[in-house]
Amino acid sequence: MNREEPFPTLPGYDHTMAFLREGYVFVGRRCSDLRTDGFRTRLMLRPVTCLRGPEAVREFYRPGRMTRQGAMPGSVVALLQDKGSVQTLDGTAHAVRKAMFLDLMTQDRLDEARRIFREEWEAAARSWQGCTVVLRDAVGGIMTRTALRWCGLDVAPEDVAARATELSAMIGAAGSLGPAHLRARVLRIRSERWARGVIRRARREGVSPDSVLSRLAAHRDADGRQMSVAVAAVELLNLLRPIVAVGRFIVFTAHALHVHRGTLPASAPGTEPMNRAIADEVRRHYPFFPLIGGCVLDPFDWRGVHFAKGEWLLLDLYGTNRHPEVWPSPERFLPERHLQSEDQPEALVPQGGGSYAQNHRCPGEWLTVALMTEATGLLRNLSWEVPEQDLDLPLHDFPPWPSDGMKIAVAPSTPGASC
Ligand code: HEM
Repeated sequence: MNREEPFPTLPGYDHTMAFLREGYVFVGRRCSDLRTDGFRTRLMLRPVTCLRGPEAVREFYRPGRMTRQGAMPGSVVALLQDKGSVQTLDGTAHAVRKAMFLDLMTQDRLDEARRIFREEWEAAARSWQGCTVVLRDAVGGIMTRTALRWCGLDVAPEDVAARATELSAMIGAAGSLGPAHLRARVLRIRSERWARGVIRRARREGVSPDSVLSRLAAHRDADGRQMSVAVAAVELLNLLRPIVAVGRFIVFTAHALHVHRGTLPASAPGTEPMNRAIADEVRRHYPFFPLIGGCVLDPFDWRGVHFAKGEWLLLDLYGTNRHPEVWPSPERFLPERHLQSEDQPEALVPQGGGSYAQNHRCPGEWLTVALMTEATGLLRNLSWEVPEQDLDLPLHDFPPWPSDGMKIAVAPSTPGASC
C-alpha cells in the first residue's frame, strides 16, 4: 500500500449508486485498485473519507476522537441502536453505560448462554430428524428463546413468536429502504412498547437479582440516575436483537461447513479450539456489518491529511477482515489461521475495533463467539446433507442470507423415520 501519498479522491461527483450496487466490496475494491488504504468521495451527496486496514482501525478508534452521532443514516440508527442508546453517547456518559454491558459478560453468564442455546437447539433438532430444514427460518425461534431466557425473561409461546418477528425484521431491514424497512419500523414500535412494559414491571415488582434484566433495570448512568423507561427499553432491545442476529452467523457456519469443507481439516485436533477457530473464521470471512461511520470530534492528522471537526469517515470492517497485508489468501476459508497465533484485535473487526471500555467496540463479542463455538460443535455433531439449492450470498444485501436460506436434510435418528 502507498503510505506516502495522501488519500486520492475518486473521479466523479457521487458514488452512492456504485456503493449500493457493489455493497460489501465497494471500499476494498477501490483501495486495492488505487493501492491505498483510503480515498475521498461523496456518498449520499456528503463528502466522506473511506478507510480500511488495521492502521486505520487504530486511528479511527483512538479514545475521544470520533462520535457516532450523525455518522450513520437515520434509517439504520432507528432500527439498530436508536435514540439514547450507548452507541449515541460519548465520554463519561458512554463509559458508565458501557461498563454495565461489559459487566454482563462474565464467564458464568457466557457459559449459561451456551447451555441455554444448546437446550433450545436440541429441542428444535428433535423435530428435524428425517426432514429438510431451512436454517434461516429455524434459527429465529431458537435465538429468540435463547435471548429471552439469558436476559431472565418469560418465554410464553406468543411472546417468542412476536419478538422473533420484530427482532429479525430489525436486523434484516436495517440496510434497506422501502416497504420492508417501513414494516420493520412499525414492528420496532411494537417491540419498544413491549420492552417498556418489561422494564416498568421489573422496577415495580422486582426480578431475580442476578438476572441481566435486573442489572439493566437498576443501572444508574453517569448522572447517578436510573435510565428513563424508554432508554432502558432501547437497551434491552440492544441485548435481545444482536443475540438473535448471531443466528445469521450460525447459518453462515452451516454454509461454511458445506461450501468450504475442502479447507476444513478432516480430523480436528481438540474440537473446542477448532470449533472456536471456525467461529472466528466465519466472523472474519462472512458479510455482516459492512462499515462503521464516525464524525470527527477531536481533529487529527494522519498520513499527511488533516481531519477537521465534523468530517465524516467510514471504516470498512469487511475490507479490514480481508486486508491482503494481514490475512494471507484472504478469500480462502482457513480456520487454522486463528489457531497458530493470537489474532490482532485491529485486524479482526467484524464487531468493531478499539477498546471495549473506552470506545464503541461491541460488548457482545465474547457472547457471539461463545454461541457460535457451541453452534459449530452442534452442527458438526449433527448428521446432515445439503440438497440442491442456490448457496449464493448477494453482497449488495446488508446483511445477506444464502439465497435459498441454507437448506439442510437431516438424517433420521432411526432408519426410515421421516417428517
Ligand atoms: C451478530 C453478531 C454481532 C455483530 C456482527 C455485532 C456488531 C457490532 C458492531 C459493528 C458494533 C459497532 C461498533 C462501533 O460502533 O464501533 C456493535 C456495537 C454494539 N453491540 Fe454488537 N454485534 C454482534 C453481537 C452483539 C451481541 C451478542 C450483543 C449483546 C448481547 C451486542 C451489543 C452491542 C452493543 C450494546 C453495542 C454498542 C456499543 C457501544 O456503543 O459502545 N452485539 N456491535
